[in-house]
Amino acid sequence: MRITILFGGSNRERLVSVASAQALHQALPEADLWFWDIQDKVHVVQSKQLAEHACPFEDEFNPGTRGIPLEQALDQAKAEDRVLVLALHGGCAENGELQVMCETRGVPFTGSGSASSHLAFDKIAAKQFAALGGVTPPIGIALENIDVALAEYGRLIAKPARDGSSYGLIFVNAKQDLVAVRNAAKHEEYVIEPYIAGVEATCGVLERPDGSMMSLPPIEIIPGEGNFDYAAKYLLSSTQEICPGRFSPEVTAGLMDQAMRAHRALSCTGYSRSDFIVSDKGLVYLETNTLPGLTKSSLYPKALKAQGIAFVDFLRDLIELAER
Ligand code: DAL
Ligand code: MG
Repeated sequence: MRITILFGGSNRERLVSVASAQALHQALPEADLWFWDIQDKVHVVQSKQLAEHACPFEDEFNPGTRGIPLEQALDQAKAEDRVLVLALHGGCAENGELQVMCETRGVPFTGSGSASSHLAFDKIAAKQFAALGGVTPPIGIALENIDVALAEYGRLIAKPARDGSSYGLIFVNAKQDLVAVRNAAKHEEYVIEPYIAGVEATCGVLERPDGSMMSLPPIEIIPGEGNFDYAAKYLLSSTQEICPGRFSPEVTAGLMDQAMRAHRALSCTGYSRSDFIVSDKGLVYLETNTLPGLTKSSLYPKALKAQGIAFVDFLRDLIELAER
């Protein structure tokens, strides 16, 4: 099968995707590159174009061609016996829509299937399912109760129910911040939770073609300037990501166990990365990413490295799982 890296996407995480594609293409230089643009057109891209794109995350990638509609590109992928390596994040690239289009055509792709992607991408549904698998999510607060909840908890956090990379995150520290939440919630569904003090942690899970599954070493995240939001993730250099995190053996084991539980409860395939807060009351599960960032500065590749797994071996395993 012809290995094809599909990157871009029409949602706001597409900029992160370009950087993931750069990292993937370095590891798989023989792969073809297909760029999915903001108008849902797919362009064949040359290695040089991708390699030379300066990539902090605010620039659009411009392939300079007209492209063909995504669905037509997927038909072509089937006809040309391609396996798609998804260097994609967010929106209909991660919420199962792309995965359905691939599944109905019989185009193999890396990572979780459509049902799992759909479930994991919805933070509300994912919390409930993962909880059935044995993890502890934060309580959810209904929009109409935010005043009371703010008085009760002192601080809240609000985030889009279906988005990633901390886009749209709102920290509610005082009554006046509630206006921003109410306004944002007019445009898309929001998850509102009590702010949980503690250390941010994330833990990857990896499946292998031999049927084995393992958790990677958990990572400790120390945002340099305030919170681990979009800017801290991709634009500031002050965030520290320590891998393996400096957690006690019990906390480390707990994170590894809970990441595996979430992966299983959400029926993920190949790989996933679950995010947690290590609070003084225990581990709190935030979400599972079915297409975690794979950029040079991303967390999942750091955990692979700490585990002694070469990025290229991880990718080859994912491709092998996809081709089944
Ligand atoms: N949604 C981003 C890419 C991540 O989870 O790494
Ligand atoms: Mg996410």
